[in-house]
Amino acid sequence: MVQKKIYKLPVTSNKRICQDIYLLELKSDELAQTMLPGQFLHVSCGSSGFQILRRPLSIFDCEADLVKLLYKVVGKGTASLTDFQQGDIVDLIAPLGNSFVIQGSKPLIIGGGIGVAPLRYLVRGFNRQGISPTLILGYANADQAIMSQLFRSADCQLFSCTMDGTFGFKGNSCQLAAEMIQESEYDVVYACGPNAMLANLPPTKATTFLSLEAYMACGVGACLGCAVEKSTGGFYHVCKDGPVFLRDEVIINV
Ligand SMILES: Cc1cc2nc3c(=O)[nH]c(=O)nc-3n(C[C@H](O)[C@H](O)[C@H](O)COP(=O)(O)OP(=O)(O)OC[C@H]3O[C@@H](n4cnc5c(N)ncnc54)[C@H](O)[C@@H]3O)c2cc1C
Ligand code: FES
Repeated sequence: MVQKKIYKLPVTSNKRICQDIYLLELKSDELAQTMLPGQFLHVSCGSSGFQILRRPLSIFDCEADLVKLLYKVVGKGTASLTDFQQGDIVDLIAPLGNSFVIQGSKPLIIGGGIGVAPLRYLVRGFNRQGISPTLILGYANADQAIMSQLFRSADCQLFSCTMDGTFGFKGNSCQLAAEMIQESEYDVVYACGPNAMLANLPPTKATTFLSLEAYMACGVGACLGCAVEKSTGGFYHVCKDGPVFLRDEVIINV
């Protein structure tokens, strides 16, 4: 297992994909070869003397010697990431967190909003085993659904949905997942998205893994910034014990 450490990686590109979503590509042979689907990095967002905490970002994909991050601008930290240009150096800690367990032969993968971020690399994990997963990606509108284009090179059955019906199925990813689970039997389910989505996933007998988002401070299990309730009582740290959990292990508070 690769030990976490600080990396200083050159930016190869930082492109706006839609609205407030960007794709940042960094060069690192080492991380591209060793990071696992579901793991994340703790990225220093400060630039030009502007110092803030590191921010957790998932691995969107790794390809050749490139590590790709898909991020949504929500506040100061993620906004400062948009300043990065080709050749700039990004300071980050990696690899962090556990990873998705790749199992089963008929996976259903469900993402909502920026929750699609760890899913391209998960699909790649299945493709490496010769498995073509079914993927449901849910968005607010057609502009956000442009993110689905980033999955075009993947071997998967991709279904997009939008809340306003401007692209794909009209409704949210849980509604579409409920229909598809009735029609077909999946043996494993993976989901990443807002808590409201995770809490409303349709019932299924399939083993279900959730990738959780949480507010993070230290990122290494030393504070309580990222606590999530255990279903058996007590708390997990998303940064240290997660971000991937079995659905039955955690209580999702909306
Ligand atoms: C394991 C993990 C992986 C993640 N992967 C990605 C990723 O790949 N791409 C991506 O865009 N984001 C990802 N996130 C979320 C991302 O870390 C936060 O959006 C980011 O830290 C916000 O920092 P900021 O300084 O821009 O915003 P802040 O100034 O800290 O916050 C701005 C606003 O966003 C809200 N907010 C901040 N963080 C969160 C959160 N985690 N959940 C809900 N609301 C929040 C705050 O309440 C506030 O209203 C991930 C989070 C975790 C825990
Ligand atoms: S962020 Fe400090 S314990 Fe997880």
